[in-house]
Amino acid sequence: MNVRAFELHDDNRRPPADSLIGIVQRGLRMQPKRLPSWLFYDERGSQLFEAICEQPEYYLTRCEIDLMSVHAGEMARALGEDVRLVEYGSGSGVKTRMLLEHLRTPVSYVPVEISPEPLRRCVQDLAEVFPALPVQPLLGDFTRPLRLPIPPRVPRHTVLYFPGSTIGNFEAREAAELLRKMRAEMGDNGGILIGADLKKDVATIEAAYNDRAGVTAEFTLNMLVRLNREIGSDFNIGQFRHAAHYNAMAGRIETFLISKSDQRVRIGKQQVNFGSEEAMQVEYSCKYSHDDFATLAGKAGLDVAQSWTDPQNMFAVYYLVRAGARATPHG
Ligand code: AVJ
Repeated sequence: MNVRAFELHDDNRRPPADSLIGIVQRGLRMQPKRLPSWLFYDERGSQLFEAICEQPEYYLTRCEIDLMSVHAGEMARALGEDVRLVEYGSGSGVKTRMLLEHLRTPVSYVPVEISPEPLRRCVQDLAEVFPALPVQPLLGDFTRPLRLPIPPRVPRHTVLYFPGSTIGNFEAREAAELLRKMRAEMGDNGGILIGADLKKDVATIEAAYNDRAGVTAEFTLNMLVRLNREIGSDFNIGQFRHAAHYNAMAGRIETFLISKSDQRVRIGKQQVNFGSEEAMQVEYSCKYSHDDFATLAGKAGLDVAQSWTDPQNMFAVYYLVRAGARATPHG
């Protein structure tokens, strides 16, 4: 048993469980109907996402890990010394480990997660690999202002790590707002190390969200399984199907759950009608050119200080700092 598990900081400002039903009811009153993509990540959804990352079509994770294996040393140098590394989300931790290995004198690692179980696992796994690294897990919603735990010593740089192109799940305005919030949290000498999926041929992108084994389809449908269990709705899972298309105008994958028939679903005290072939939007995954990303960063008052990408321009990792701040490696 790891004692660190007892030091878990509870941000304590997450929406109470009973508001879930309200979130769903509101989304289903919109035209078109929509549900927020964070609803994917219950226990099963997180497992399915891990399985997606192993699919041959889902190039994002492999590309980003390859980028880390080539450039993590250089990234660590860009971040500087005495870094407090705050991660938004705490995935399987592979990329994080690759980065931490190269940080010379990290002050602490702060994974931010909305659900306690993945957070506990992340802390335990890391403790085995980096026994000397102070880990300060923070339970909370990273889209809201965070109260970071008091670090064990004064960091020179607070760096927010946001891998996976999760930023792509936010629409342009929300993404800029989230980066603005991150800019405030990192302070004057801090930065943001962030992964982003790049624009490329449509077939490659669409295949990544429509794997042949059907793992992504199961991941999408699992949102309804989760809702049935957690809010007692009665979605008939067999009467919906997954659909993901690239919207070239908007530069994003748009994922939908399509109703296979005219049907009625009970959500709490309300009944919601779905027409045959009606599409309910569940996820955007935005894709960027380097210019797109620099523009987005600029809207949040950030500059791209450094960037790393593979020779085929599949995926990029950017290091963002405050606009006008010294854009050279610290140290
Ligand atoms: C974890 C948000 C980066 O958008 O590519 C994978 C989630 N959805 N397949 C993505 C996801 C469908 C993924 N992110």
